[in-house]
Amino acid sequence: MSDMSINGFEKAHPVSAGDVAGAFEPGGLRDAAGAVNAVQPIGVVLDVGGAGSQIAFDAQRLTECAQDGDPSVALAGQVGSQIKIRVGKGWLLASVRNQKQDARGNSGGILSAVDFLGEGEEERLTGRIHSFRRGVTGYPIPGALVYPATSQDLKQIYASDGRPSIEVGNVYPTRDIRAGLYIDALLGKHFALLGSTGTGKSTSAALILHRICDHAPEGHIILIDPHGEYSAAFRNNGIILDVTNLQMPYWLMNFEEHCEMFLTSSGNARQEDADILAKCLLQARMKNRLADQMGKITVDAPIPYLLSDLTNILQNEMGKLDKASTSAPYMRVKTKIDELKSDPRYQFMFSGMLVGDTMAEFIAKIFRLPSRGKPISIIDVSGVPSEITSTVVAVLSRLVFDFAVWGREEKTRPVLLVCEEAHRYVPNEKNADTSAVGKILSRIAKEGRKYGISLGLVTQRPSDLAEGVLSQCGTIISMRLNNDRDQAFVKAAMPEGARGFLDSIPALRNRECIICGEGVAIPIRVAFDDLEEFKRPASEDPSFTGLWSASGGDEEMVQRTVQRWRAGGR
Ligand SMILES: Nc1ncnc2c1ncn2[C@@H]1O[C@H](COP(=O)(O)OP(=O)(O)OP(=O)(O)O)[C@@H](O)[C@H]1O
Ligand SMILES: [Mg+2]
Repeated sequence: MSDMSINGFEKAHPVSAGDVAGAFEPGGLRDAAGAVNAVQPIGVVLDVGGAGSQIAFDAQRLTECAQDGDPSVALAGQVGSQIKIRVGKGWLLASVRNQKQDARGNSGGILSAVDFLGEGEEERLTGRIHSFRRGVTGYPIPGALVYPATSQDLKQIYASDGRPSIEVGNVYPTRDIRAGLYIDALLGKHFALLGSTGTGKSTSAALILHRICDHAPEGHIILIDPHGEYSAAFRNNGIILDVTNLQMPYWLMNFEEHCEMFLTSSGNARQEDADILAKCLLQARMKNRLADQMGKITVDAPIPYLLSDLTNILQNEMGKLDKASTSAPYMRVKTKIDELKSDPRYQFMFSGMLVGDTMAEFIAKIFRLPSRGKPISIIDVSGVPSEITSTVVAVLSRLVFDFAVWGREEKTRPVLLVCEEAHRYVPNEKNADTSAVGKILSRIAKEGRKYGISLGLVTQRPSDLAEGVLSQCGTIISMRLNNDRDQAFVKAAMPEGARGFLDSIPALRNRECIICGEGVAIPIRVAFDDLEEFKRPASEDPSFTGLWSASGGDEEMVQRTVQRWRAGGR
């Protein structure tokens, strides 16, 4: 046991004599487990601000604690660890943001900035925290004593408050305290899952979604899967839709999406082409008897039309003598439509089978209405030609939004839309191409909550996401981020100032994350559970040495690959 006066704490900041004597008395207070380290101070508060304070740690006490069997006590004082500060009869919990050597001579003291997390009362017999609450009402005074937070304390703090929650892993550094996410709070305000490549984002996304599905087998989740990774993971509790069975009718597109798909020109010519397409598309839609029943319709209305009607109308309009332009724009649009119609890669949208009015079935299928125990639909867009992937994602996202908007009176079920590689679809201003998908996802981020749509964004490049989208996410789950810019973005978007946690983002191990925001009581560092192999996305890191030592069957493998390549995924 060390004497605090050695380190000059007492001299610089007199602590009330009674406090110190009681706390330092050998064999005085003891934790229930008999641990002495937990009940002896490790430092004192130097100064106090609104959200945190400066603390002087006793280096020798920290060394003693480091030997402790309780991992939380052993880590006490380290960056990212939790400590508790005596405030009156209660405890204030704080996390350590940094450490530096006390410059005042060779005292061996360590100065640290800590951020307040919340406060709780003291359990009389054991000195543990109970009834923990986020936020601070009573501040410590300089000189207040600082103690290590024990695993028992953390258990109290992280205990679920009774709201429905899912468990995703263990709270660092403990081995047995479960980290929970409150489902309603997590989904109610969108969430983002961030991390550099290979840190385990996709597996963690699968883990979280599996736990949500287990909790809500009648839920409604749509996952946009650009690499076709997730089909393996959700075979048992989801439906997998890819180009072979998605069957997304082309006429579901609104006018803007039609333009992305049908127009090839740019600049002034594009505007000209767009005007012509708008006019002809409206006429084609008007030919449907649904339009007859409705009277006036707009060019955006999801009313089936025949592509052959559209091309015929284009042809007719082109033949008219009083048209405003030359024939070129008509030809451009018509040629593109003919091309798409005959391209086998586009059959999932433009096949002749898709002319019927299948909107209700399509929506029921992708939104899982009813779920029938398979609450998630994996939309594998890896087989979609890359030039239209973003338009396809735009149509799907817009359907989610429009369905929620038009279904307001029906009290439709909330839907969770999860986007992998979100930076591709909602890029920041620098990379922005004002695409339909960026607009609709930004809109869902801003307004979706009101209509019961939750957005889950998974990305490795948070700094490439559109400004504002990240800050709309109430819960941020950040795995390791190697890039400075990304780290800065995440810090700016983090809903609260637990800087000690944020600073550890570059130092996280694979499968570890910092979670902060609505979904958790206080920011936590979590080691994700091991996900069973059959529930993992198919994104195994390839073993070069293993695969390179195997041989045989190479020619056949190349043949099969070429065949699939030519067939375009069918
Ligand atoms: N919770 C977990 N349980 C089991 N294995 C895991 C877990 N988390 C990650 N892994 C393993 O780590 C590896 C990388 O994970 P993953 O593919 O999820 O990373 P990623 O961040 O999505 O990478 P990328 O940016 O390349 O998509 C995989 O081999 C995966 O099996
Ligand atoms: Mg991934």
